[in-house]
Amino acid sequence: MTENETEFAVGESIARPASPELAARRAWRARRMALERHSQASTPDGPRRDIGRRIFSRVLRRTGRAMKGVGLHRPFARAARRLRLAEITLSFARLPPAFDGYRILHLSDPHFDGNAGLGEAAAALVRGLAVDLCAITGDFRFAHRGPFTERGVLEDVALLRDAISARDGVVATLGNHDPHELLEPLEELGVRVLVNEGMALRRAGGRLWITGTDDVYRFYTEAARAALAAFPAGEGDFGIALVHSPDLAVAAAAAKYDLYLTGHTHAGQICFPWGAPVVTHLRCEKSLARGLWRVGGLIGHTSPGLGTSALPIRLFCPGEATVLTLRRDATGAAQ
Ligand SMILES: [Fe+2]
Repeated sequence: MTENETEFAVGESIARPASPELAARRAWRARRMALERHSQASTPDGPRRDIGRRIFSRVLRRTGRAMKGVGLHRPFARAARRLRLAEITLSFARLPPAFDGYRILHLSDPHFDGNAGLGEAAAALVRGLAVDLCAITGDFRFAHRGPFTERGVLEDVALLRDAISARDGVVATLGNHDPHELLEPLEELGVRVLVNEGMALRRAGGRLWITGTDDVYRFYTEAARAALAAFPAGEGDFGIALVHSPDLAVAAAAAKYDLYLTGHTHAGQICFPWGAPVVTHLRCEKSLARGLWRVGGLIGHTSPGLGTSALPIRLFCPGEATVLTLRRDATGAAQ
């Protein structure tokens, strides 16, 4: 293992100890701060201006203000807080026997401060669930630029943390809405944030290797790809990649990961009655925008997310928490 990878036995706390300021983290922070000041997005395909997306977002924000003006904001926001719980079972030939039945609660994109009361709604949804691990794939706050001033987001994270019963704890990645200042407060709440680093959970000769990258939709650096490449993919290793958006699915498949948990798209958030999204905010293959997908030997899950961005509206696309149960299928018939 390298300096920014840690290994835990099942039952050990995965929360980062007090505050070892790792060199890798210092380097990450300096680079992230520079990227946050930049007007262009840093993506796996190079810098992008995304002018069309910015105009679209501006139109949506104005629409949101207009909705508030005519009193439409509240009923839509209340409807968007009606969340659902989904259960999915996935079979893997390479899952170590000791992890057969392992349950992961996958949450994403809460954008807590975009809809007052969402924290309580999300906590009520997951309270009483017994899972092994909770993975949150980023976008905790609503604003997508500027310093971190939304302290209420942390109160909602604390509510959610208290409601979650996850034997191996809570891990998270940052999204394109999350500033670098959010990392330490999340870790003080007991959420293990993985920024271009890996950790492993050991059980009876098997190892669940979890790599989390920083957001790659706006804050991509080569460190994200290097972190994915560190997965040893040896006998008894099962690899899980946590990346805010699906943009590194091909890289994760090439590095022999088994499972890729992601979000960012909100599965469209505003969809046609048959569930197809109107807009996906995805630069890569559109089939990765929602639900389950496959790239080579990699199975991915793109969460619809809990919250909303731009407008507090969800149409034909409810917010969701997903419980993924991993099953070992030695016949190799992965689903
Ligand atoms: Fe996002």
